[in-house]
Amino acid sequence: MLENKNILIGISAGISAYKICELVRMYRKAGANVRVVLTPNALNLVTKLTLETLSNNEVYVNNFEIDEYKPEHIALTESDILVIAPATANTIGKIANGICDNLLLSTACAFSKPTLIVPAMNTNMWNNPIVQENIRKLSKLGYHILEPASGYLACGTSGVGRMREVEEIFDKTVEIMTPKLKGKKILITAGGTREKIDPVRYITNASSGKMGLAIADTAHAMGADVTLVSTFKTDKPYLNYVAETALEMEKIVKEQTPFQDCVIMAAAVSDYRVENYSSQKIKRGKCIGPAGETTSLMSSGGGKYIMSADNNEATGLDKNAESASNAGLQAECQQGGKCIGLAGETTSWMGGECINLEGNSITLKLVENPDILKEICAERKGETPIIVGFCAESENLIENAKIKIQHKGCDLLIANDISRKDIGFDSDSNEVYIINRELNIKHIEKDTKQNIAKRILEEIFE
Ligand SMILES: Cc1cc2nc3c(=O)[nH]c(=O)nc-3n(C[C@H](O)[C@H](O)[C@H](O)COP(=O)(O)O)c2cc1C
Repeated sequence: MLENKNILIGISAGISAYKICELVRMYRKAGANVRVVLTPNALNLVTKLTLETLSNNEVYVNNFEIDEYKPEHIALTESDILVIAPATANTIGKIANGICDNLLLSTACAFSKPTLIVPAMNTNMWNNPIVQENIRKLSKLGYHILEPASGYLACGTSGVGRMREVEEIFDKTVEIMTPKLKGKKILITAGGTREKIDPVRYITNASSGKMGLAIADTAHAMGADVTLVSTFKTDKPYLNYVAETALEMEKIVKEQTPFQDCVIMAAAVSDYRVENYSSQKIKRGKCIGPAGETTSLMSSGGGKYIMSADNNEATGLDKNAESASNAGLQAECQQGGKCIGLAGETTSWMGGECINLEGNSITLKLVENPDILKEICAERKGETPIIVGFCAESENLIENAKIKIQHKGCDLLIANDISRKDIGFDSDSNEVYIINRELNIKHIEKDTKQNIAKRILEEIFE
């Protein structure tokens, strides 16, 4: 699998350094030539002799060892990939800032082929905004990051920060070195759309966008030319359009679809949106405004307020009246005056009457959003792009998914069960069923979203 590949492993001083001995064995077993460079601190946690024996190569620590008249860090850059595992917060910070005060760091700085960084650290260190900022910076610059898992940590606590298993590091290395999707253009949508009610309120859903992001990251690592259309902004090294609402997403997806080999609709797009968006924040209480305009609060106190056309308070009207007709409002409206309604709603003429007087409640009218998946399938000419949909069901998963794939007209449908707490929405894991047009079903058992993403991409392009 990795025959004749030259892999350079960089080990920094994380407690999981001992696990890298096994990774060296795995790479060698797969046919690779492995060399190892350690930070001086890492020598406290794993020995040079062990790594030399396992790699069958000299192991490097010192900046000033010269091999064939080339400084070591330059000689080492002739490898096909640099895998830094475990990558400590310290080493990550230094790479992100161009600091080269040991051999591993000088090599990383001079390395022009792919670099895979595998962080491992205590949860608080990982959550430190400075570490997160460094990770984002490196990711944006094109470094591959295999983010830590959640689990038991050597410091005795549980949380995010645990180094990915060596099997996952191995798979990720293969993925990067044999870019199976090179030349493929793939568009992925991610996140839950936000259907705006007013400038500060919206209707959304529980989708975190993690599944879509995992697919985009994996496709990128596999060499694809990725376009991500997400409801949030990312710092990813591939093209990222932000579409907050279903209508924004529809526009971008439809514009970009003709240029793609594959479109994967992982976003949770709201089926409905609010008909009348209020450009002003909706306030509690009754409001007034001209017919056809969105009302805004003029006064509080529970009474109804009626203004004449010139914005002066109308005369001869009962301000405390409970109905429009009692207040003389109907007459006022007919004379072109202002209408009374609830905050944020649009007042309108109803045969000379003003509406929105039905009490202290507010009614949001929802209208149907476009079915983006169905529309791009219908508009596609021929078999390209391959179109993949997602469906989240809380009951009768398979039956509903079978109906849905036929209704939407897509090539594959990925179904997941959102009634389970341990998978799906906002979780780091998922378990899915892949259904094709012939209604054949493939079950992918519970796994990390990264691994599920890989299986989905393999299924699409097999
Ligand atoms: C026993 C031990 C385990 C450590 N494990 C980690 C770790 O998993 N992740 C981390 O970021 N730092 C860890 N540290 C702290 C780093 O070793 C320390 O920041 C060091 O300066 C890193 O040096 P290096 O990045 O040059 O290898 C550990 C320290 C000790 C003593």
